[in-house]
Amino acid sequence: MNKNLRPAVIAGNWKMNKTPAEATALIEDMKPLVANANCDVVVCVPYVDLQAALDATKGSNIRVGAENVHWAKSGAFTGEISAEMLTSMGVEYVIIGHSERRTYFGETDATVNQRVRAALDAGMTVILCVGEVKEERLSGITDEVVAVQTKLDLAGVTADELKKVIIAYEPVWAIGTGLTATPAQAEETCGVIRKVLAGMYGADVADTVTIQYGGSMNAKNAAELLSQPNVDGGLIGGASLKPADFATIVAAASI
Ligand code: 13P
Repeated sequence: MNKNLRPAVIAGNWKMNKTPAEATALIEDMKPLVANANCDVVVCVPYVDLQAALDATKGSNIRVGAENVHWAKSGAFTGEISAEMLTSMGVEYVIIGHSERRTYFGETDATVNQRVRAALDAGMTVILCVGEVKEERLSGITDEVVAVQTKLDLAGVTADELKKVIIAYEPVWAIGTGLTATPAQAEETCGVIRKVLAGMYGADVADTVTIQYGGSMNAKNAAELLSQPNVDGGLIGGASLKPADFATIVAAASI
């Protein structure tokens, strides 16, 4: 296993937080703290904050992402945003399939797959979220759950397109709860996801895919999680809204 084959990526998921003015202030605080990062740094922000984030990050090492995208190019989809709308602004990354979208907004592996394919068609880099709920872990079916999600969500995605896919393993029971997967649990399930990718695309391709852990990753636990061989980065919720904490996580991924 060679972590050098794939970039470490630390991404913030701001969820439904921050006005445009607050986004500018947060990024201005964050910029100097992550300027020397030796990993990719991304902030995924609410749609209305995208322009402010793009303006504030200009000339810096911070890239900007959205938190979702629709699968159609345009049309009668009230409230939705297309990939072209995002790329036309300069937005490069997008989170797809977050458990909060699946739980609260009825997203399925089928719609997640459609969104993934639309984002890749538009040349975006996708952060695809997969992960089990508590009952699934307790029932011992975590491996099967993440395998099914990975296969269905990536259906039709070619090995070449996979170069623009990051997988975020986010155990749902660890999101926003303060409960973190142990480093061993994170490593084991990220390893399962890599094996599934190897089955789909071959081991050489699978070894180049960045797999993040997400779920209560913070300034204190990041270094140990990120030191695991199959954990190549983090998708950070709460701690990404605190510049010093986010910078500590970025530094832990930069070693
Ligand atoms: P927390 O870091 O707040 O647990 O959120 C994780 C997450 O959902 C990132 O997408």
